[in-house]
Amino acid sequence: MKFVKTLGGLAFGVCVLLSPRSAGFLSAQAPTAREGQVTFSKDVAPIFQRSCQNCHRPGSIAPMSLMTYEDARPWARSIRRRIAAREMPPWYIEKNVGIQEFKDDISLSDADIATITVWIDGGLLKGNPADMPPPRKFDDLEQWRIGKPDLVVRVPQDWTIPAEGPDAWIESIAPTGLTEDRYVKAMQTRPGPGTLKVIHHVTTTMRQQGGDAAEEQFLSEYSLGKNAEFMPEGSGILLKAGSMIKFQVHYHSYGEEVVDTRAGLGFVFYPKGVVPKYVEVRRSVGNPVHGNINGIDVPANDANVRIDGYTRLDKPTRVVAFQAHMHARGKRMCMEAILPNMDVETLSCTKYDFNWNLTYTYADDVAPLLPAGTLLHIIGWHDNSAGNRLNRDPRNWVGWGARTVDDMSFAWVAMVSLDQADFDRMVAERKAKHTN
Ligand code: HEC
Repeated sequence: MKFVKTLGGLAFGVCVLLSPRSAGFLSAQAPTAREGQVTFSKDVAPIFQRSCQNCHRPGSIAPMSLMTYEDARPWARSIRRRIAAREMPPWYIEKNVGIQEFKDDISLSDADIATITVWIDGGLLKGNPADMPPPRKFDDLEQWRIGKPDLVVRVPQDWTIPAEGPDAWIESIAPTGLTEDRYVKAMQTRPGPGTLKVIHHVTTTMRQQGGDAAEEQFLSEYSLGKNAEFMPEGSGILLKAGSMIKFQVHYHSYGEEVVDTRAGLGFVFYPKGVVPKYVEVRRSVGNPVHGNINGIDVPANDANVRIDGYTRLDKPTRVVAFQAHMHARGKRMCMEAILPNMDVETLSCTKYDFNWNLTYTYADDVAPLLPAGTLLHIIGWHDNSAGNRLNRDPRNWVGWGARTVDDMSFAWVAMVSLDQADFDRMVAERKAKHTN
């Protein structure tokens, strides 16, 4: 065991050439555990079940399964590295700053990381199979979780993902066909049948007819584990007559050819004519604008380029969700609130990885309540150096643009405008809760 521990400590410097499977120190037989030792069955399996298995199971998107001890053991070294760097699971909210309670939070706590690391360094004990948690049930992605949708908008054409090839980001636009305004009560993006392995994620935005990007609104993100959204009672999103849906699908080849017969975005509406009390908008915030044009200036060969943008909230506002929007050079984003009295509060900071466009939805009790006149301040950092593995050419200056090789720096923020009385009531309720 001592031997394993020493090797474990050196593993990333010295042993990188060993593939996990050939690592000789992993004996064929799992050693038996003593009382109080960290084991897979008792301690690690529940964490994997909650935070990993949705993607790491047969037929799903990740390259290997983490369902059983035998599945997980050969990957120990890689797991140790990925969780320590907080690259896995894909959840990049920084843990030492800002709000920490979110819906659908699959992130690991420091204690989870310690448990898995002790399990690995302690010799990968299997433990007593009777300690295993009952198997997790997974959502059937071929079913709508929002009930029967009133409208389904689909990607307009099939797309073939070759057995091998680079990742592809495909953008397409489809009309909603709506002839009158409707308010959305629930929505869900569903990947095409049999595409679980190749669809990395899908994001959808709404565009008004003839509208330019400024009129675009973020709608939803599908990545495994987040696939249906229900608006709180009395709130909804306005989908205007004549609006279009823009789909962005990130495909990842998986060793066999797959034809995607179209991801779809399903909506359940409020009844015709019903206008919910709270209308949620999902707008771009902190887009750096100079005069009339969006502008960012990312010099070549610079690993740390900071860009600031501001959006003023004209009405009292409840912030519902936050998504950083950058491209391949993006590395980090923070959102802070500059309050009318000039107090500054950091709401969220996230490391940015272009491979995962993650939306973070605040838990109801902590969703920021901001007075009218607050400035939302978005700070984006780009890495345009060779050290960024997604950077195609660090010798290029990069400006604002829609292509993958251009970049951007803003946040999609879901928010609800409130009237003053409602805002005051919500603030009072929150205060009462926190002082009790
Ligand atoms: C939302 C889906 C998702 C979740 C949840 C997730 N993973 Fe992953 N994981 C992936 C994908 C996709 C890859 C392959 C791409 C990559 O390497 O980033 C991957 C890669 C990995 C790798 C690298 C494998 C190699 O090639 O060496 C490790 C290790 C890993 N995940 C561990 C975990 C662990 C441990 C958890 C839970 C604590 C977890 N992942 C949760 C999707 C996920």
